[in-house]
Amino acid sequence: MPGDTDLFEIMQTMRAMRRLKPDPVPDELIGKILQAGACAPNGGNTQRWRFLVIKDSQIKRAVQVHYKRAFDEVIGPRYLNSAPPPGVSRERYNRQHAAVEYLTNHFHEAPVWIVACLEEGTATPTRGSGASIYPAVQNMLLAARALGLGATLTTRHLLYEKESEAALGLPPGVHSYAILPIGYPMGKFGPVGRGPLADIVYQDRWGNPYRGVKE
Ligand SMILES: Cc1cc2nc3c(=O)[nH]c(=O)nc-3n(C[C@H](O)[C@H](O)[C@H](O)COP(=O)(O)O)c2cc1C
Repeated sequence: MPGDTDLFEIMQTMRAMRRLKPDPVPDELIGKILQAGACAPNGGNTQRWRFLVIKDSQIKRAVQVHYKRAFDEVIGPRYLNSAPPPGVSRERYNRQHAAVEYLTNHFHEAPVWIVACLEEGTATPTRGSGASIYPAVQNMLLAARALGLGATLTTRHLLYEKESEAALGLPPGVHSYAILPIGYPMGKFGPVGRGPLADIVYQDRWGNPYRGVKE
């Protein structure tokens, strides 16, 4: 639904949208998404983020090969052997698995990708590195949702990081942290499936229920 502006509604309905139409997305909207990304907090405001917009189908296809290989070898079998996460029924989990497989096979057909990168030079990426790029990624996902565009945060290409980053043509010292395939969604936005807050929020002492949660 284009033009949604209630932030809480947007967050509650910003599901991973994996089935996308191939219709082109206007550059004006991609520009708004990128602008939202560049508003995000980042360590020391050094803004070492770089965003690679990919429309070239050959480049997308070259990366999709590794994305699919990682599904066939790791992610697919993992889905088959794992229980549904909190707040998600078995039926919904099966639907998610089908959608994940769909995106795997159609990854390169999303009209636009935004590859979120950090220019890190010779510094070795640490656990904290992602903290300076994932807020931008989340801002871009929220912006896409607000504009009625579907997107998914994906990182699976990192299972074949070297091969994928070569296919993306990243220069030395630049690392990718996420690929966001973006397009008009085939389905509808809907509520995310999550477990109750009472199971994950504590007060003062670990395991002690937080009394402020009312669900
Ligand atoms: C770090 C991270 C990596 C992810 N990588 C992928 C991915 O490679 N492919 C994919 O289809 N979804 C990916 N996702 C999306 C999650 O599967 C999704 O957020 C989760 O299943 C919850 O689904 P929902 O947001 O639709 O409720 C990723 C999410 C995160 C946070």
